[in-house]
Amino acid sequence: MKVAIIGAGNVGKALATSITRAGHDVTIAASTPQSAERAAQEIGAQAAPSNAAAADGAEVVILAIPFASAGVQVATEIADATAGSVVIDVTNPIRPDLSGLATDTSAAEEFQLLLPKAAVVKAFNTVFASNQADPGAADEPIDGFVAGDDDDAKRKVISLVESIGMRPLDVGPLRAARALEGMAFLNIGLNAANGWGWTSAWRLER
Ligand SMILES: NC(=O)c1ccc[n+]([C@@H]2O[C@H](COP(=O)([O-])OP(=O)(O)OC[C@H]3O[C@@H](n4cnc5c(N)ncnc54)[C@H](OP(=O)(O)O)[C@@H]3O)[C@@H](O)[C@H]2O)c1
Repeated sequence: MKVAIIGAGNVGKALATSITRAGHDVTIAASTPQSAERAAQEIGAQAAPSNAAAADGAEVVILAIPFASAGVQVATEIADATAGSVVIDVTNPIRPDLSGLATDTSAAEEFQLLLPKAAVVKAFNTVFASNQADPGAADEPIDGFVAGDDDDAKRKVISLVESIGMRPLDVGPLRAARALEGMAFLNIGLNAANGWGWTSAWRLER
């Protein structure tokens, strides 16, 4: 699968590592071409000179950027290039003072409004970057919750989630991203409050 990752920080690099390892064709963009190039060299992926160039021709575009400071700008830049493609929103729109989420709906639904020609799917946001680079190495399978309104797009994301060694779980429509962003917020708060090591993960027992 041809995958573009926008963002080369903790999440961008971790997902680029696992997705490249799974045999997909990964291109990274960041806030500068130099930053994208550094990450791509480290991982063995390709770098793009701009967000639009990374998204151009990609089947799946992953948003691994800060929601509040970069969301609208990046969405505007990739809107044309992602028409007809799948956009995975990994962002957690957490207020800097950790007082709550900075949206009345969800970041994923806000991205869908900004990218009406793309199919936005929420995935990977409940998993810390520490668990994203090699999810298959964990003792227990790591759950990859997936929410979206377009069934074909969701199937594609579920296959991507599975290919990197996570256990995919379809949690319903894009609106369910509200719950997924709440779960991430709770996990972040628990680690901050208890001094945990930022490796805890949600697992659904049935
Ligand atoms: N960290 C986690 O464990 C985790 C887990 C799940 C979800 N998330 C969410 O994932 C997102 C990324 O988190 P992170 O920890 O990876 O953050 P990070 O380490 O701060 O990385 C953010 C990345 O976004 C890039 N960026 C910023 N503005 C940009 C723009 N206009 N165009 C392109 N790239 C831009 C930065 O580029 P430069 O490298 O050039 O500065 C950087 O590579 C956040 O929304 C976070 O809430 C984080």
